[in-house]
Amino acid sequence: MNTTTNPAHLTRKPKILVARAIFPEALAKLEETFEVRSNQADKVFTPQELQNELATVEGALVTGSERIDAQALSQADQLKIVANISVGYNNFDIPAITAAGVMATNTPDVLTDTTADFGFALLMAAARRITESEHWVRAGKWDQWSIVNNPLGMDLNGSTLGIIGMGRIGKGIARRALGCGMNVIYHNRSRLPADEEKAYSATYVSKEDLLRTADHVILVLPYTAENHHTIGAKELGLMKPTAILVNIARGGIVDDAALAQALQNGTIFAAGLDVFEGEPKVHPELLKCSNIVLAPHIASATEKTRRAMVDLAIKNLTTALAGNKPPSLINAEAFKG
Ligand code: DGY
Repeated sequence: MNTTTNPAHLTRKPKILVARAIFPEALAKLEETFEVRSNQADKVFTPQELQNELATVEGALVTGSERIDAQALSQADQLKIVANISVGYNNFDIPAITAAGVMATNTPDVLTDTTADFGFALLMAAARRITESEHWVRAGKWDQWSIVNNPLGMDLNGSTLGIIGMGRIGKGIARRALGCGMNVIYHNRSRLPADEEKAYSATYVSKEDLLRTADHVILVLPYTAENHHTIGAKELGLMKPTAILVNIARGGIVDDAALAQALQNGTIFAAGLDVFEGEPKVHPELLKCSNIVLAPHIASATEKTRRAMVDLAIKNLTTALAGNKPPSLINAEAFKG
């Protein structure tokens, strides 16, 4: 943990926390305006450490590894804003943050296409068994090539993709699916207006109909208590044995133990996962499955997009500490007027 201090004869700079490592240039820019407690060593804080850190600052840049709840905020008397470097904010207890009079922000829009690209990459990789094929090559099995003895996959072209969660990223996935010659069906908390459904050639269906009908399913919905285990054993049982399931949403939306069993039993064909229950731990039964493509929560991880996310989080933080409404304020209702 480094702390930069400014000479006493200068006006006091507001003190902020940067809870995980960020790009050095971004940190240097922050240090022009703020007294920064930074964590470039990138060691995840314990809940007690986070509570202690938040007790001394007016603003904090945080990520999904920092749970901001009543305990974390219990001594944060000067805190005005927690700026998440992430569009998802299930690490935020919004009622507790609002009750503490703190603004909460996230980073929408800047990662939409990068994340949609990755969701599609996982779908393609799982459908065409790219990880297994690579292992096949590395294991020196290429001389066993034959028409029937390759890792045979599933086609995406001409198939139906079921998208659960039709927000910005879900729509990005739909655009890519159309370009790939797929039909799109979707399920969402609320149905899209007719003109949007037309633009994405997307048909609204119930979750059960989607699971029964779709050739492949991708999850792009936010994690909430109601969405916990949206996909469990029952739902996996509704899917086609030839289906691929992709989760780029959040761990906890899928029951990972049930998924591992479904992959092992052939209930579904394959999965592509970027997020896991209890990550960074991965369910040991998932690790045993070869019909799965695993990634360490990197859907937004291109240099351009991660920089854009950090920049937007900094904009949110600096705007709030200047006394103005930050561009991506989540708990806007509480700060009206
Ligand atoms: C997000 O922004 O919610 C992503 O999951 C982070 O990569």
